[in-house]
Amino acid sequence: MAWWESRFLRVKDGHLFLGRREAAKIAAEHGTPLFVYSREQVLANLAELRRAFAGKTDLEVRICYAMKANPNRQILRLLKTEGAWIDAVSPGEVKEALTAGFSPRKILFTGTSLSTEDFRQAFAVDGLTVNIDAFEQLEIMKNVRDRWFKGRAIRISVRWNPGIGRGFNPKVVTAGDRSPDGTPIKFGVEEKKILVTFQKASDYGFKPIGLHQHLGSGWVKEDLAEVCQAAARMIGKASEMEERGFALEFLDFGGGFGPRYSKSQKLFPVDQYAAFICREIKKRRLKIRALAVEPGKYLLADAGVLLLTVGYLKESYGNLFACVNGGTFNTLPRPAIYLQAYHEIVPCSRLASKNKRRITVAGNLCETGDVFGKEIPMPVPKPGDVLAVLNTGAYARTMASNYNLRPIPKEVIIY
Ligand code: LLP
Repeated sequence: MAWWESRFLRVKDGHLFLGRREAAKIAAEHGTPLFVYSREQVLANLAELRRAFAGKTDLEVRICYAMKANPNRQILRLLKTEGAWIDAVSPGEVKEALTAGFSPRKILFTGTSLSTEDFRQAFAVDGLTVNIDAFEQLEIMKNVRDRWFKGRAIRISVRWNPGIGRGFNPKVVTAGDRSPDGTPIKFGVEEKKILVTFQKASDYGFKPIGLHQHLGSGWVKEDLAEVCQAAARMIGKASEMEERGFALEFLDFGGGFGPRYSKSQKLFPVDQYAAFICREIKKRRLKIRALAVEPGKYLLADAGVLLLTVGYLKESYGNLFACVNGGTFNTLPRPAIYLQAYHEIVPCSRLASKNKRRITVAGNLCETGDVFGKEIPMPVPKPGDVLAVLNTGAYARTMASNYNLRPIPKEVIIY
């Protein structure tokens, strides 16, 4: 069995099946490039995350789907029906979540570098919780409320930066002072400003009901210790805020945990993380009512594949390329923009073949970095073969542009 096989991805007689249907047949029916998402896999991921917390706490556990990972409306509706909440990061995402049927009460709006207009749109949604990113936002928030929404009680929480961040790539480490490549980190309220932020928010008539952090994305097993340390810091900070008289309703630990992208990667142990969080909250005797996490990758990444068709094979200076009918920037920019992003790529109808070579899967854009995978060992495909790029349910189509005036692909959702 291949390491990536799942309830969504199965191999039968050398052919890849997506759920019950052969991948090549789905490609023939809809055309490629094409994204295929699995409802069943999303539901299984959600159930597994709920199991990780089950029996460990009496608190309400809110699974706030980070919809930036994949805002497909059918996916949103599915998760809504299953009782998920939403992590939205722009007025556009808030609007889309409302259209999919989420109640404003179940949407946490976490924006950064927000404008007056952004706040105006957020405050217009009665019941939404606005998660503030900077002490310096409070003045703008007060002005917006007093000008357009006088007297409205606006639920807010505070995103803090605990000083520790973790992510698979420097571009997605979202806490600490600087990311590993030296970029100053723009997110959250630094520790020394937390108390004044709570105080000023209250003075201005906002009621801070939550504390939030998001450390980064793409954790693996080795990240557990630091991630737990950051969780403990937030729980400690919440306890301090309670002692100072601020009644918190929830703590939100953000997202960051995902599936395995490559064979050598060790999976982040979500159950141990959940156990740690629940234990620490109990130990500190917090009076909160709920805890929240904000998974994006965990729920969606392994529930999607991208299907591409090989036009021809090309050999040049000893390199072997499979030239496909899609470009990374138009479908899956991750490998083009993050050095460490890896996606397994499999030829859908040749999985039993022993004729393996190291193949670079080249897209159809005019950039050297436009490759889906570099020198990936795989059975040699033939022109017309369909390739499946795995783990592309999250941060794929949603990040795509029509660079080179190539279109963004269609998406289908299967059971
Ligand atoms: N909460 C907040 C406030 C976030 O900013 C994010 C992701 C999440 C939750 C969900 O993180 P996840 O569980 O999906 O790791 N484009 C990058 C990922 C950027 C993530 C940005 N924030 C990638 O393709 O790897």
